[in-house]
Amino acid sequence: MSQYRSIHQVRQGRTPLQAHRDLDGLVEDELSREGFDGPTTLFYRHGDPQKFRTEGRFRNTTFHSTVLKTSDSASADGVPQRLFHNDDVSIWTSRRQESMPWLFRNVDGDEAWFVHEGSGTVESEYGALKFGVGDYVYIPKGATRRWVVEEPLNLFGIETYSGQPRFPHYSGMGRHAPFDPDLLRLPVLGEAVTEPGEYRVRVKYDGEYSDVVYQSHPFDVLGWKGDLYPFAFNIADWSVITSDSVHLPPSMHVFLTAPGVTMLNLLPRSAEKHPGAERAPFHHRNADYDEVSLIHGGSAFGLPLPPGLIDHSPQGIHHGWPQEVHDAVREAKDAYDRVEWEIIMIETRKPLRVDTSLDEVEKVHVQF
Ligand SMILES: [Fe+2]
Repeated sequence: MSQYRSIHQVRQGRTPLQAHRDLDGLVEDELSREGFDGPTTLFYRHGDPQKFRTEGRFRNTTFHSTVLKTSDSASADGVPQRLFHNDDVSIWTSRRQESMPWLFRNVDGDEAWFVHEGSGTVESEYGALKFGVGDYVYIPKGATRRWVVEEPLNLFGIETYSGQPRFPHYSGMGRHAPFDPDLLRLPVLGEAVTEPGEYRVRVKYDGEYSDVVYQSHPFDVLGWKGDLYPFAFNIADWSVITSDSVHLPPSMHVFLTAPGVTMLNLLPRSAEKHPGAERAPFHHRNADYDEVSLIHGGSAFGLPLPPGLIDHSPQGIHHGWPQEVHDAVREAKDAYDRVEWEIIMIETRKPLRVDTSLDEVEKVHVQF
């Protein structure tokens, strides 16, 4: 993509001068490429584009994560549950109740988890990384680790096959927004485990599990250095980039990105105050990205959000907040000066397949 912004834009019929503002009864609906960064059309409609029904695979899948019975919730020996997948990434949930009884190495991909519930420590070759609610936990592909549980876990995460998740370049924001790198928490290397013995590591390779048995403990590390390491980061430490006068899209809030996938957070912030500015997320079709979101908690415009709800919107499907919410928020203009949502979102370039394990899971109908 060019480093220069195109200002080429054409218009027909009734449109506001500034997008997402002064709609004057029009229903705004965005069709966009490359997330929200590429060529875009804003349609100004008469009717609500989110009133539809689907037939076939092209549909939203929405469910409460609390109803999932994962194998790692049933047994300490179990593993996380895959929810969605494509060639670049799988999206998982872990409901581990007890600590891993074995050491584990994932050589299929990097892992980035969001801690919806629970707390504990990721013990690894790098040391001990403590985590709790609201943390992201990143673990590099190939690192040997063990999840130690204090409070039972409800994790939502990605396993990337396309490359290592990295931080995007927050162009023009300086070094310390939307977060200061000092706020990343690193593992603390403790005492090396030096007792000789037989140490078994469960390895996931090409989706299958094998064992490697070492004669020295993988955590016999006396020191390490490098630019590849696990870390944790809490969403409370994120400084939300926002605008008073125009609603900014989710692409402003990306935390990690790998080829074909991004992980981002929509977090509490002040609402747009400019008269006429739309404050609820507009109707849209993201033509190049599937989207999976987890509601971590909070509320939006007086509506409490159901914690633990997971939703998949395939690319090209209409979504956003229902028109009734747009109308209510516009009417109650000054009633909501903040948005208190906590939503974790994953966007994928290639279409996602819904894992067959979700076939029997009860679906609900909620649109965002
Ligand atoms: Fe979206």
